[in-house]
Amino acid sequence: MPITFVPETQTFYLDTDNTSAIFRVYDQGYILTEYWGKRIHHADLTRLQKVYASGFSPNYPGAVDRSWSLDLIPTEYPVYGGGDYRSPAVQVQFPDGSRLLDFKYHSHRVLEGKPELPGLPHLDGADCTLELTLRDDYSGLEVVLSYSLFEKIDIIARSARICNKTGAPLKVTRALSASIDLPRADFDMIGLYGAHIRERQLDRTPLRHGIQSVESRRGASSHQHNPFAALVSRETTEFSGDAYGAALIYSGNFVISAEVDSFDTTRFQLGINPFDFSWKLEDGEEFVTPEAVMTYTDQGLNRMSQNFHNAFRHHLGHTRIRNKVRPIVINNWEATYFDFDEEKLFGIIDCCKGLGIDTFVLDDGWFGKRYNDVCSLGDWVVNKDKLPHGLDPIIERCEQNGMSFGLWFEPEMVSEDSDLYRAHPEWAIHKEGRPFCTGRCQLVLDLANPEVLEYLKKALSDVLANHRISYVKWDMNRHITDAYSSALPADRQPEIYHRYMLNLYALLDYLNKRFPDVAFEGCSGGGGRFDAGMLYYMPQTWTSDDSDAIERLKIQYGTSFAYPPQCMTAHISASPNHQMGRVTPYDTRARVAMSASFGYELNPLHLTDEEREEIKNQTARYKKIAPLVTEGDFYRLISPFDRNCCAWMFVSPDKRRAVAVYVQKLGVPAWPRNLVYLAGLNPDARYRIEEMDGEFYGDELMHAGIALPWMGDFQSASFTLEQID
Ligand code: DGJ
Repeated sequence: MPITFVPETQTFYLDTDNTSAIFRVYDQGYILTEYWGKRIHHADLTRLQKVYASGFSPNYPGAVDRSWSLDLIPTEYPVYGGGDYRSPAVQVQFPDGSRLLDFKYHSHRVLEGKPELPGLPHLDGADCTLELTLRDDYSGLEVVLSYSLFEKIDIIARSARICNKTGAPLKVTRALSASIDLPRADFDMIGLYGAHIRERQLDRTPLRHGIQSVESRRGASSHQHNPFAALVSRETTEFSGDAYGAALIYSGNFVISAEVDSFDTTRFQLGINPFDFSWKLEDGEEFVTPEAVMTYTDQGLNRMSQNFHNAFRHHLGHTRIRNKVRPIVINNWEATYFDFDEEKLFGIIDCCKGLGIDTFVLDDGWFGKRYNDVCSLGDWVVNKDKLPHGLDPIIERCEQNGMSFGLWFEPEMVSEDSDLYRAHPEWAIHKEGRPFCTGRCQLVLDLANPEVLEYLKKALSDVLANHRISYVKWDMNRHITDAYSSALPADRQPEIYHRYMLNLYALLDYLNKRFPDVAFEGCSGGGGRFDAGMLYYMPQTWTSDDSDAIERLKIQYGTSFAYPPQCMTAHISASPNHQMGRVTPYDTRARVAMSASFGYELNPLHLTDEEREEIKNQTARYKKIAPLVTEGDFYRLISPFDRNCCAWMFVSPDKRRAVAVYVQKLGVPAWPRNLVYLAGLNPDARYRIEEMDGEFYGDELMHAGIALPWMGDFQSASFTLEQID
């Protein structure tokens, strides 16, 4: 059993194949964190916890001596009020105004597998779970800390359940999912920051004393920061060194922080952002936090990412679609924008015949009076001026040409100029009578209001149930402002953001269950909500509205720190590219897009015969390599953040097949010797490389490398490996 409790020393040992987490019930029942890192024996680590008395670190009541202070003890779920001045994991307010808490060990149990997290996306299929209950004896408040172990992939999923057994309502003002105190400060913090059309750029900075964090206050996980962060040793590379990674399975306001105290302990925390949050918990009720996915490795960043990839590919979400090869899609957005009608769509669809594309996705503009982005969101009825015969003839046309049909929605939004807004202005998030912000001329529907949830269930089901739709692109093009819900009483207003998320998840859960064969693709102005919460319901996300292959190098590379490539949608778009104006070769665009869930974002009517042939080859090749992209281990080889090029590869689980891609950004005169070193191969196996028409040992390719020929601006190469014997 990977979870052991030793009663004599009151110690918990949580072991995965390569890691151990150790903590102990300590003096008076406080939980003392002893270790998290590389797997070690079940040692008694009490000897390490030598704390020295420190001025201004107060002693808790009955402390053994003046050195015993919660300000100094590393712990699992710190609270406010008892002398620990660092950031707590939980804060509450009792009816008498008191905010004081003192959680101590109450009980624990070990379960096979893992219980569901009610109403929240979560990992499944854990080997076992420890539930550790802590209690504040003064008030009767309890918190159940949950640790689920995934032995083979070195993942621990953590969450907390706050149970009000106090006999009166209280307010939860901070409820993080996980907190861990690490006994060192010499870390770099890695995070993913960005903007619309420049998502998930890599940030790596040394920690300093104090708090540093990534967070969202936008009502969505956001383009600006991602709910993932890692603490790594200064010397950690892609292939070696310590890396502690944490990702939150949540799509709303989050925080991930690292706090280095005066004694060089680093407190690493993540959860719902406490900013503008509180939750009224009636007596007998529970508040469950989202799930934090934590991993440690001493083998560098690639292994850390692979642990996350394995968790999200095999243990997250819709069981029918996860880890399946996704359809090759053609989307009409960059081909037509809003400017289409039935005839134009017929032309595009007919033109896809024989190209090897699986699904045609009709993007924004098919409903209401949607000729531009200033109106009609909320009115999910077909625009009869553009499509006089409805969606059915479009669907039939797709099927006649060997494709299935997909449709775009932006369900969470409403335009001021819409029938929905005219009928229900109170369903939009804003405060009546106060001027409010718009974004892309639209407002956000108040999903904290159960009536809105019911409306959306019906509006979307009406379209999905009455048409043969195999694919839904679910967009979301602005963030929340004017956070006020007309459906919530005054003392529950700060619940709006989390209630929004819970009802969004309820809506997606309902649609997943009612339409189990529909593949959902998430999108938020591209990659503004690329998080594990959304991936639970929608197993791939349009990675960015920037479809330029060279910009995508950084975006996809950064995204891969936490998320598997198959979860990223990447399309070949027209050249010159619409966002960057950049002209790039077709094969570079193809290599970048094929390293993800693949498709097209261009007008097939504009293709030359030669380009049509190229597309046929591309789709045939993608069908060949898609199992590798889906099931293979992904390795980052050269970072586009560090160099004028980028390289990565996929290796099949049995190491018999692999595909590597190298992309040159700008060409370099007097080409210096340029080698790319492959990774993850069987060192003793011989591989045939199709493009080099030669045979090579695995160790040779990994350690001696492949010499690249001269490449000009934006040129690229791929290497397709197959083991020979
Ligand atoms: C933003 C998306 O990211 C685009 O792909 C497209 O669907 C537009 N919205 C449509 O308005």
